[in-house]
Amino acid sequence: MKRKTTPDSKIKPEFPGKPSVMHEANRMKRLPLYLFTIIDDLKAKAAARGVDVIDLGMGNPDLPTPPHIVEALHNAAKKVENQRYSRPKGDVERRFKQAIAKWYHQRFGVELDAEREVLPLIGSKEGIAHLSLAFLNNDDIGLIPSPAYPVHFNGVIMAGGILVSLPLSAEHDYKPVFKPLSKEITRMAKLMLVGYPHNPTTATVDLDFYREWVDWGKSKEIIMASDLAYSDIVFDGYTAPSLLQVPGAKELPCIEFHTCSKSYNMAGWRVGWVAGNAEILASLEKTKSYIDFGIFRAVQEAAIAALTGPQSCVKEGVEIYRKRRDLFVEGLKKIGWEVAKPKATFYIWAHVPPKFSALSSLEFVQLLVEEAGVVVAPGTGFGEYGEGFVRFALVEPEERLKTALERIGKVLNISG
Ligand SMILES: Cc1ncc(COP(=O)(O)O)c(C=O)c1O
Repeated sequence: MKRKTTPDSKIKPEFPGKPSVMHEANRMKRLPLYLFTIIDDLKAKAAARGVDVIDLGMGNPDLPTPPHIVEALHNAAKKVENQRYSRPKGDVERRFKQAIAKWYHQRFGVELDAEREVLPLIGSKEGIAHLSLAFLNNDDIGLIPSPAYPVHFNGVIMAGGILVSLPLSAEHDYKPVFKPLSKEITRMAKLMLVGYPHNPTTATVDLDFYREWVDWGKSKEIIMASDLAYSDIVFDGYTAPSLLQVPGAKELPCIEFHTCSKSYNMAGWRVGWVAGNAEILASLEKTKSYIDFGIFRAVQEAAIAALTGPQSCVKEGVEIYRKRRDLFVEGLKKIGWEVAKPKATFYIWAHVPPKFSALSSLEFVQLLVEEAGVVVAPGTGFGEYGEGFVRFALVEPEERLKTALERIGKVLNISG
């Protein structure tokens, strides 16, 4: 292979046939273009043209972290012992794990051994990525529903495993269908990851879904992982169940990821956890111990305050999202774009309107940015089966959402 770039072109290469250092590893080349890179790029281009961009692209909560949580961070950050490396057996670390176990018990009636069945993470995204690294060899399959939150499939690719997508469709309420899976694929599968309430489709499940999944998976030597990031962002009386509520789940290879990012508006703080089967957690902890030093202790104190403090802040946030959802779904209807009203999450999953069906979801998103100054996420950013859709993240105040609707309405009409 010819050398394309060298850091300094005056240097005469000692090994002329050797590929440039600028070539990324093959595992990186196999990754699809990252969703948020696409979104950031579109945003930056529009902003550079002087457009007042309304960003409904990334699921990045705009609401503030509740003050008692910020206060806990503030106090904890001043203590010297909290400024040192986090150590797994430390006092703060032990209390954080206990707070998580207690939360699980209060919330789902699930008993967890705080020491062995809970593992704090630097955000659930980190843990999901490292799960594949911990468990997948290059002949192991990760079964990942599509569309999905990108790290679900990118984690499998980065770890060098084989990605097999399970198509989700409205016809099956965006739940994976197991029947078409061949015996060979099921035999090679080592990991399956689902996430409900679902990002991006907003689909929800009841406990029977997890019961059936565990029934299917328990004889197959497959790690069953659930991503419960949106368990608190639920509306109209719906409550989201946990995989670990299935009797015996944590004795099977079942684990569940969760995060403070959405419930407590702590996305930038980087704190989450995984709970469930102790052996799987031990391997994940071992993997992480070679890579990171855990979570800043002051952030752990803040997360303890979040989980053990008043939960009215969660309800208040949900109410704001519910109002935004109602406003936006109604508003889209008025401009001729019918979408389903989600029971959970702060997203809207919408078909690209029929008169734009000749466009890919990315082309349609580009059109919305250019003509309306509104950024939304293209369905393909969530995997191949996201094509034909876009996702709105309702992370702007109502006034901005109204403006977005007006601008989108003009685009839909002008082009009609
Ligand atoms: C389904 C899902 N899982 C995980 C995450 C990441 O959460 P964290 O901030 O804990 O890494 C997100 C963020 O948008 C998400 O939508």
